[in-house]
Amino acid sequence: MNKVVLVTGGSRGIGKAIGLYFAHHGYDVVINYQGNEQAAQTACQQIRSLQPNSMMIKGDVSNAQDVKEMFDTIMDRYGRLDVLVNNAGITRDGLFLRMKEKDFTDVIDINLKGTFLCCQQASRIMLRQKSGSIVNLSSVAGISGNAGQTNYASSKAGVIGLTKSLARELASRHICVNAVAPGFITTDMTLALSDSVRNAMIAQIPWKQAGKPQDVAQAVYFLANSQYITGHVLHVDGGMCM
Ligand SMILES: NC(=O)c1ccc[n+]([C@@H]2O[C@H](COP(=O)([O-])OP(=O)(O)OC[C@H]3O[C@@H](n4cnc5c(N)ncnc54)[C@H](OP(=O)(O)O)[C@@H]3O)[C@@H](O)[C@H]2O)c1
Repeated sequence: MNKVVLVTGGSRGIGKAIGLYFAHHGYDVVINYQGNEQAAQTACQQIRSLQPNSMMIKGDVSNAQDVKEMFDTIMDRYGRLDVLVNNAGITRDGLFLRMKEKDFTDVIDINLKGTFLCCQQASRIMLRQKSGSIVNLSSVAGISGNAGQTNYASSKAGVIGLTKSLARELASRHICVNAVAPGFITTDMTLALSDSVRNAMIAQIPWKQAGKPQDVAQAVYFLANSQYITGHVLHVDGGMCM
């Protein structure tokens, strides 16, 4: 029987690359998405060409009922969950003084509360089955901060605090909880930036290039399959943050 991974926000960008990477390595992959049905269908088809028993589940990670139903569906179908990757995330950038309350709370709800809700469901399953691994997507913004991203940076710093605290709670049961902190990766999220902002950011990266979703996928897979590494934040950022 194959191992099973759930990748939230697995229909596009980094999440899709993570799903494909795990499928290449023999996992049955469950991708979650919120609204873009077409992108999810395409990602799921590509993943199923590698692992036919894979599936997609629509659901909002910030909604407790959606999250519960998603984990119930996975347990009904596979009876196990080996890896959870909390990847779903959004940005609502804006300068602090002009930031709307909704743009703050939406980002916290999806990026941080969504990670909390999924970790809670996964922890129950992993404690029962006495195995499992969780990898959360943070960001260099959560480590260094970023002008125009007080909401996003707060959510991603929160993900690091959650990761380290949960790692401490689950370590004695040998369940690893880690995070990756990507720098500037080419996806829809960063393609939304203007050319001038994108070029200015790339100029600050010692590697002098944006990263690829596959670079992050490789790091997530490494952490998910490691033993004795827990509470760690692995930077995947071309040297941006050191
Ligand atoms: N790209 C970067 O440079 C970068 C850098 C650092 C960290 N990160 C982090 O890496 C993760 C992936 O980023 P990305 O660039 O690949 O993003 P992306 O291309 O914008 O894709 C976001 C994914 O999240 C899903 N999603 C959004 N809101 C959701 C919700 N409420 N419930 C469930 N799924 C939801 C989207 O589904 P739909 O298509 O259905 O909306 C999509 O699959 C995020 O956590 C991001 O913060 C990215």
